[in-house]
Amino acid sequence: MNAGQGNIPEKVIDAVLEQHDIVDTVSRYVHLTKQGKYMKGLCPFHSEKTPSFTVTPDRQIFYCYGCGKGGNAIKFRMEIEGLSFPEAVKVMAEESHIAVPEGQGAVVNPPNPERERLLQAYEWTAKFYHFLLKNTEHGKAAMDYLRSRGFNDKVIDQFQIGFAPDRWDTLVQFLTKRSFDLHEMEKGGLLTKRQDSEDFLDRFRGRIMFPIHDRNGKIIAFAGRILGDGQPKYLNSPESKLFNKSRILYNLHQAKPSIRKLRQIVLFEGYGDVISAWEAGVQNGVATMGTSLTESHAALMKTMADEVVICYDGDRAGQAAAMKSIPLLEGVGLSVRISVLIEGLDPDEFIRKYGADRFNRQMIDGAVSTTKFKLIYLKKNHILLEEEGKIAYTKEVLPIIAALPSSTEREVYLKELASELQLSFESLKQDCNEIRQSMQKNMPDGDNNDKRWNNGRHKKGQVAAPTLLPAYHTGERRLLAMMLQDAEAASYVEKRLGDAFNIDDHAAIAAYLYAYYAQGKPPDISRFMSSLHDDRLEKTVSSISMMDTPPEWNVQELDDCIREVQKVPQKRQIDKKKEEMINAERSGDFLRAAQIASEIIALERQ
Ligand code: UTP
Ligand code: MN
Repeated sequence: MNAGQGNIPEKVIDAVLEQHDIVDTVSRYVHLTKQGKYMKGLCPFHSEKTPSFTVTPDRQIFYCYGCGKGGNAIKFRMEIEGLSFPEAVKVMAEESHIAVPEGQGAVVNPPNPERERLLQAYEWTAKFYHFLLKNTEHGKAAMDYLRSRGFNDKVIDQFQIGFAPDRWDTLVQFLTKRSFDLHEMEKGGLLTKRQDSEDFLDRFRGRIMFPIHDRNGKIIAFAGRILGDGQPKYLNSPESKLFNKSRILYNLHQAKPSIRKLRQIVLFEGYGDVISAWEAGVQNGVATMGTSLTESHAALMKTMADEVVICYDGDRAGQAAAMKSIPLLEGVGLSVRISVLIEGLDPDEFIRKYGADRFNRQMIDGAVSTTKFKLIYLKKNHILLEEEGKIAYTKEVLPIIAALPSSTEREVYLKELASELQLSFESLKQDCNEIRQSMQKNMPDGDNNDKRWNNGRHKKGQVAAPTLLPAYHTGERRLLAMMLQDAEAASYVEKRLGDAFNIDDHAAIAAYLYAYYAQGKPPDISRFMSSLHDDRLEKTVSSISMMDTPPEWNVQELDDCIREVQKVPQKRQIDKKKEEMINAERSGDFLRAAQIASEIIALERQ
């Protein structure tokens, strides 16, 4: 995503970068050790055993050789805390008491007194309910129930679970004493109004209270579970100024660090599942709010992870919901696996019955591919002992297999199908190929039908520079590395090469850099980066700044690189001429061919 600068003045951004040293910023999250000019540590953005994450104090940037993430201190906070650019600048400015001019940084969070009051009320209410659960007679039955379900004190604290007594005005009194406007509290979802009267009542009564936090950890709603049986089992806060169900994921605020590290999210149906899984060591688990997954949810997940493991209930409803969620998640480029719960259990029940180890091994690590899941899911509709059942099932699943881009994958599933149904592999394969052919005919642009798969898969290593780059590519990177450190070097290159870099991103970086120096700014990689507002370019700049270049630029070095870079268009021109020459010879125009030949020689001399 390309986070805009909002309208935060450059002065503020510069001051923030000045006050937030990259080493201090990163050290709050990563243990760094000094290694020559660099500091090294384990990357917080992907999981690794040997450190490939570096911080360069001189340049005030970080860069990971493993996953290619890189940038300045602002970028680091954006990535690790899931903030937008203006949000990160605002937070960091506040931390170092930098004033953000009125009406400017304020875009981040327009001061909204009603919103602030409501947030305050939710926070106090959660504390109050938590206190009532743990310390009073009112909460005793609820506490016994939670204990019987295996919730210990640590979990109850961690998830701030509480209890709303079965009375009409516990919260009304609490909020009144603290001078909250009850109308406002009713609008915000904490209270309800008695019909045809002006009396306010507690919305939640006799329920175990699960606070729901936004991604930054602010409480914005509750889910209240009835004690024992009864309807509805869960009562959720209504949508409000603060709470939009289709965008909120339960537990995201606590799961964020683990999600970013593993680049994976485990998606549950129920609050209890998230909590039990957390205790079982799955700390990247979130759940939707009792509504189905939305596109907003999927897009949000994609900003933090590459893979989602769907871990819904093992009953029919759960599996059907999983089936529905697959295209939504794949649609935004996430890869998806599904854990298939046995015996109709839900994850919480599975963990209690079979333990944490088996849950991690079988349900998380052992989650199956979407194709495998579809095969298992669709099988239940057919009686495979009968011929018609076999045929109907095959008809349903062959198109799914045929759509797979990898022939190896197709083969694996076809073999499985053949042995399971006791059908001939050869004939299944033939049917599959026919379906595939007719699919491809209907595709708008032939071979590109596997684009969707590429989205998720090739992202990871994309930016990490391959070890052996063509000479012109390395030449361009070296030029930029020197230009980043010295305005004079940049101006030298600008005169001779201008924007004639062969790689578009390099040309773009050069153009930004010329503009940056034109404003009279001194070389400062970190500051330059925050002017880019383009994730890919920032990563490229970080990677380039990690190159070893001579401390002082020199004309010789620049000229060598420029020559490499210019060779490419010349070589392209020569190749084109050669082709023209061959064509001329073929058509018998030998005069023209001889003319082209002399042009080629002239070009090669250059
Ligand atoms: P379940 O009925 O599977 O509940 O609904 P659960 O999470 O396993 O609950 P426990 O273990 O009996 O306490 C799954 C999810 O659907 C939503 C909730 O988000 C719940 O966690 N739900 C369910 C509601 O919103 N309202 C309901 O009445 C029931
Ligand atoms: Mn359940």
